[in-house]
Amino acid sequence: MKVLVLNGPNLNLLGKREPEVYGSQTLTDIIDALTIEAQQLNITLSHLQSNREYELIEKIHESANEIDFIIINPAAFTHTSVAIRDALLGVAIPFVEVHLSNIHKREAFRHHSYLSDVACAVICGMGAKGYSFALQSASQFAIKD
Ligand code: DQA
Repeated sequence: MKVLVLNGPNLNLLGKREPEVYGSQTLTDIIDALTIEAQQLNITLSHLQSNREYELIEKIHESANEIDFIIINPAAFTHTSVAIRDALLGVAIPFVEVHLSNIHKREAFRHHSYLSDVACAVICGMGAKGYSFALQSASQFAIKD
């Protein structure tokens, strides 16, 4: 099974970015640990972090017929991007939305997500473990031939 992990803007700053909100692990730490976990689950993992909306959208488009399941932390695009929602619907790849922080405990503008109602599941407030839980759920939700 092939799983793509997508991380949106500013998540390249993890480790130094508001550690009291997002934790002390860097994105490399998180993806390295997830890659080992994926190997144990017989999953091939690929990853893209981008600060550019169009790069995330193009990666989603390229994933059609290639990727079985997407784990996405759209970061600030969660609250703004109809385009990422449409891309995910366009390729019809099941996905889980992950947030490190509990967006519902934070500012009102973070409470709405353009993705949640079309996601298989939403995990928030679990820190980096959220990615691991999403990975463990991949076989349950992934496209099967
Ligand atoms: C985030 C929450 C978003 O509101 C924020 O813009 C982020 C990170 C999270 O992982 O908690 O950049 O997606």
